[in-house]
Amino acid sequence: MAYIQSIAGRIVSAVRAFAGSRNVSARSRLDACGENSVVSGWVDRHVPGGRIEVGRDCSIHGTLKTATPEARIAIGNNVFIAGHTMLDCICGISIEDDVLVSYECIISDSDHHSLSLSVRANDNLDWRREYHDWTTTANEPVRICRGAWLGARVIVLKGVTIGEGSVVGAGSVVTKDVPPWCVAAGNPARVIREIPENER
Ligand SMILES: CC(C)(COP(=O)(O)OP(=O)(O)OC[C@H]1O[C@@H](n2cnc3c(N)ncnc32)[C@H](O)[C@@H]1OP(=O)(O)O)[C@@H](O)C(=O)NCCC(=O)NCCS
Repeated sequence: MAYIQSIAGRIVSAVRAFAGSRNVSARSRLDACGENSVVSGWVDRHVPGGRIEVGRDCSIHGTLKTATPEARIAIGNNVFIAGHTMLDCICGISIEDDVLVSYECIISDSDHHSLSLSVRANDNLDWRREYHDWTTTANEPVRICRGAWLGARVIVLKGVTIGEGSVVGAGSVVTKDVPPWCVAAGNPARVIREIPENER
């Protein structure tokens, strides 16, 4: 019995050490990280440059990706980003304090490809050469304001601001701004109700 406990203890220690080393290496790829934040997700600096800042008391289990030298990801304090969520940043993604982002969400500030076939026909082979002409695509910063909550599998598209304290229902595709203190849901997401004063 003691032998089994000892083996089990070693396995737990090894798993913790592995998790800890991922955390250290992910944190080391950030430009700034506040105290008491846990970063277990993938930090993908696709090209040199870009800036990724995480505040204090955050739990970041998803992927933070910067794809251009101009990309800026700014995450405030006490933010939760669940596993298998991706912040895909070309120009700017800002997540303010006290935001919750559930699992398998995508927050993207770019269309990534041109609507013109003759332009995007080059994209595949360009990518292989680690090149992409971002001037051919629509890019606009995204802002998730203080205290918002995105349910599972939400997609937020370029240029969107999600207002303070608002909730986006599971599986929604947000194509336009969501005002503060609302619940929005669906594809495309529409406001389904306001959050009353006493629940703010
Ligand atoms: C957004 C949410 C909080 C709304 O809850 P609610 O206020 O109780 O809403 P209701 O269930 O009363 O639904 C109100 C209306 O919105 C619709 N609706 C609710 N959630 C929706 C969603 N995610 N997508 C599309 N429509 C939705 C309902 O069908 C209903 O429509 P109707 O009036 O035509 O019947 C909830 O539906 C949700 O999506 N929660 C997220 C759960 C999640 O992602 N959990 C993972 C861990 S964070």
